Amino acid sequence: MMQRPVRLHVNVDHVATLRQVRGTPYPDPVEAALACEAAGAHGITVHLREDRRHIQPEDVERLRQRVRTLLNLEMAPTEAMTEFALRVRPNIVTFVPERREERTTEGGLDADGLFDMLKPLIQRLKEGGIEVSLFIEAEPKQIDAALRLGVSRIEFHTGHYANAKGEEAEKALHTLHQAAEYNAKLKQPLHLAAGHGLTVANVPPLLRAVPSIRELNIGHAIVSDALFWGIAYAVRRFLRAMEAL
Ligand code: PXP
Repeated sequence: MMQRPVRLHVNVDHVATLRQVRGTPYPDPVEAALACEAAGAHGITVHLREDRRHIQPEDVERLRQRVRTLLNLEMAPTEAMTEFALRVRPNIVTFVPERREERTTEGGLDADGLFDMLKPLIQRLKEGGIEVSLFIEAEPKQIDAALRLGVSRIEFHTGHYANAKGEEAEKALHTLHQAAEYNAKLKQPLHLAAGHGLTVANVPPLLRAVPSIRELNIGHAIVSDALFWGIAYAVRRFLRAMEAL
């Protein structure tokens, strides 16, 4: 049974990337976030990386003050970041794996292998009234770990699907479908998001193959399209692609 519409959370990291390469005050990711909200985005996502290569701590603080939809903070599962999140209070914290040398997040979090390290951090965020999501590979083992960790949300890594072509893309969709069905059949399914590498072209086949996805986190493609058409149009174009199912 399909439940639409899917919610769109726009990741504005790369607006900050453009700012950081020149050390100027512009373009401002907060202004971009507000324009995305005005265009119909259901939430704003940012990744505060350890190396601070794009989003800065002050950006998250300013976003917290001005975002009216929902703020999702992606971050590494560390003590320092957990303290930061408890102070700034985003609506959602998404734990992601982080490696300094990577160009972007390259894989899902090993929720199963890192269980003991994650458990107390998740506990503290939940006690602080913050919802926790885990960015994981589409695998039953990771969904089981997320359940045992007591989070309410998971986000499937769609990078493999986005990078694949032809038969490989079909296989990746099948993997996402199977894992989503595993989640959907749980007594209390976890709220399912997906993200990484998503474009106007690859979103419709993904949503057709995985009807239980409730939310997409999309950044790079929207900011790229915004260069040519403006960010409001870029957001609306994705919303249309998501609704046209
Ligand atoms: N979801 C997560 C957990 C991510 O780490 C990222 C990249 O920061 C995205 C979604 C967005 O990916 P993209 O920029 O490729 O749309």
